[in-house]
Amino acid sequence: MPACTETTSPAFVVRDAFPLPTGGDPIHARAVRCDEYDIHVTRTADQALDRLVELLDGAKVAVVSDEHVMDELGPALLDGLHARDIDVIASVLPAGERSKSLQQATRLWHWLAESPIARRDVLVSFGGGVICDTAGWVASAFMRGIPYLNVPTTLLAQVDGALGGKVAVNHPLAKNLLGAFFQPLGVISNVSYVATTSDRHIRAGLAECIKKAVIASPDYADLIESDLDAILARDGDALEQLVRGASAIKAALIERDPYEDDLRRPLNFGHTIGHPLETVSGYGPLLHGEAVAFGMVVESRIAANRGLMDPGTLVRIVGLLRRAQLPTTAAELPPQITPDAVIAAMEKVRQIRAGSLRYVLPIRFGESVIADDVTEAEARQALHESGYAAS
Ligand SMILES: NC(=O)c1ccc[n+]([C@@H]2O[C@H](COP(=O)([O-])OP(=O)(O)OC[C@H]3O[C@@H](n4cnc5c(N)ncnc54)[C@H](O)[C@@H]3O)[C@@H](O)[C@H]2O)c1
Ligand SMILES: [Zn+2]
Repeated sequence: MPACTETTSPAFVVRDAFPLPTGGDPIHARAVRCDEYDIHVTRTADQALDRLVELLDGAKVAVVSDEHVMDELGPALLDGLHARDIDVIASVLPAGERSKSLQQATRLWHWLAESPIARRDVLVSFGGGVICDTAGWVASAFMRGIPYLNVPTTLLAQVDGALGGKVAVNHPLAKNLLGAFFQPLGVISNVSYVATTSDRHIRAGLAECIKKAVIASPDYADLIESDLDAILARDGDALEQLVRGASAIKAALIERDPYEDDLRRPLNFGHTIGHPLETVSGYGPLLHGEAVAFGMVVESRIAANRGLMDPGTLVRIVGLLRRAQLPTTAAELPPQITPDAVIAAMEKVRQIRAGSLRYVLPIRFGESVIADDVTEAEARQALHESGYAAS
């Protein structure tokens, strides 16, 4: 008996007999894909590790993280994986929005290409939104797509950035210009990870929660209002409810339109103004959530000026953002942000979007309209009412 008999697998026969096309009609091709995954919200690092090991199912792991996260949380994650006999390699990016770049993505592709990571192995994004966006995009293109798991470590990434499969890096001319839709294998949001982030980052994460409350859920607005102090104090129960609520709302909104075929997206509330603020300030001094907070103020004012939103709702939105200590006035923003610069950056986005700039204009909590006819004058007026000198 030859020694190799035991390892020989039976031959796998593929038998087909496709008919040839008749006539001259176009030949139709179809590639239907359905991605489903679970978002696990855990309370401790050990619970997160257990979930991660289950989802890895024996695959090798390439962890992508940044220097702050690695310092604070890396040893426990890597030791935990080693202790469970999982092969791990890790790459650490400089912390901050500037790492969301083509250069860093290219560096990661070189690293993966030279590693033992194969088509069925798993990339783990272990960090904030910058890491989830960058590593997810790297995973989407490496070998035409390898599986990846998001293990977000900031509140912003747990309530938003790690969910939905939008992966991208920035281009100097526009945020997230180079990207793809590529869904993760799963998301593990462990709320105790956010304990080592700054208060400012907790508040920035809250901005994306307030956004979801305004566009999609009066119940979530009530929860945030009643739990706000506990959330800012990083109470585990309050954070868990906050992250679970945001995850459920985002999952439901994404399921409706996973690939954004409909450009009228309520999730973009605060971003029509918010993204240009980030571009103008050079991706750094202003956190994404802070830019979105101010963007929500300006866009709410546009809605109120059009008579869509009643003044009470405007007061409630701005009041909630203020209680969360997020920027709601021009004086709280970096000085390079001027109405002219914001309008110019929005014009760039308008060009990229084939002439259309859409605004999500809330009517009340849970209801909004999406408008593509907001004029420059309306935007300038709302910026003025938010503290900028009239221009
Ligand atoms: N893909 C999406 O749908 C989506 C949605 C929202 C935001 N985003 C993107 O997310 C990014 C912002 O994410 P972010 O605010 O998480 O930024 P980030 O990833 O830069 O993290 C913020 C800072 O916190 C540090 N950090 C992260 N976790 C930590 C921890 N547990 N302890 C100590 N320090 C920690 C990081 O090193 C960094 O300095 C933006 O690029 C934004 O465009 C993407
Ligand atoms: Zn956002």
